[in-house]
Amino acid sequence: MPETAEDRTDRDEEPFRREIVSFTRRGGRLSERQQDAWDDVAERFVVDVPRGRTSTSVAEGFTLDPSELFGRSAPLVLEIGSGRGESLVHAARENPGTDFLGLEVYVPGVAQTLIGLRHAGVENVRLAVVDAVPALTRMLPEQCLEELRVWFPDPWHKTRHHKRRMVTDDFVPLVRRVLRPGGTWRLATDWQDYADQMLEVLGRAEGFTTSGDWAERFAGRPVTRFEAKGTAKGRTIRDLSATRMTA
Ligand SMILES: C[S@@+](CC[C@H](N)C(=O)[O-])C[C@H]1O[C@@H](n2cnc3c(N)ncnc32)[C@H](O)[C@@H]1O
Repeated sequence: MPETAEDRTDRDEEPFRREIVSFTRRGGRLSERQQDAWDDVAERFVVDVPRGRTSTSVAEGFTLDPSELFGRSAPLVLEIGSGRGESLVHAARENPGTDFLGLEVYVPGVAQTLIGLRHAGVENVRLAVVDAVPALTRMLPEQCLEELRVWFPDPWHKTRHHKRRMVTDDFVPLVRRVLRPGGTWRLATDWQDYADQMLEVLGRAEGFTTSGDWAERFAGRPVTRFEAKGTAKGRTIRDLSATRMTA
């Protein structure tokens, strides 16, 4: 049987690195176009994050000031795992009065996003090559977000890998910390078993209200290549949402 990314994870993990993360660092080679976009606009759009021990960590004491980062004060939407940036660039183009921050640990994905940004001519996006966990724990200020979006997080479908899933009870306090009261947490997945887990997590999430059922497809979410692949395989796309309580 061919080796999968998840199998490789078990072998490739750096020996000193004990904490469980929701991603694998896949090949970091940029295509010529990606490198060109990176050289051209990364300085403008990619946040220079001081690191701790690893290349996706955040140095202790570093916090981001969104109004300084974007050069204005506007509602801020965060997308975790922005991938190739299809949703992020679409949203930024449709909503010029809102600022969008994408967190993505896959550097070629970030470079691909830069190609999209350049092409669309949008300015209201910033990207950070950073693990969402330290970003939500300490890099972002409390209650700075209008919305937090998690589109198609890695499903980690094998039971022994479920511990790597991002959307768990332990993740809830991190989201609660950064979302403003009244703000929205949106999710989508094509993996039914993960959708069921998300529904349970949201249903018991302290400080959030949710319908207890699937949400309507979010109108601001375009069909990404990732979603199209899931649909082609006959999977049902599930949207979910929860609102941060005001009191
Ligand atoms: C399955 S892909 C989906 C990408 C995109 N949202 C889409 O719909 O096309 C999940 C992405 O999340 C990123 N990711 C996983 N865990 C992450 C984390 N802790 N912080 C930031 N990005 C993460 C992965 O690198 C990957 O690009």
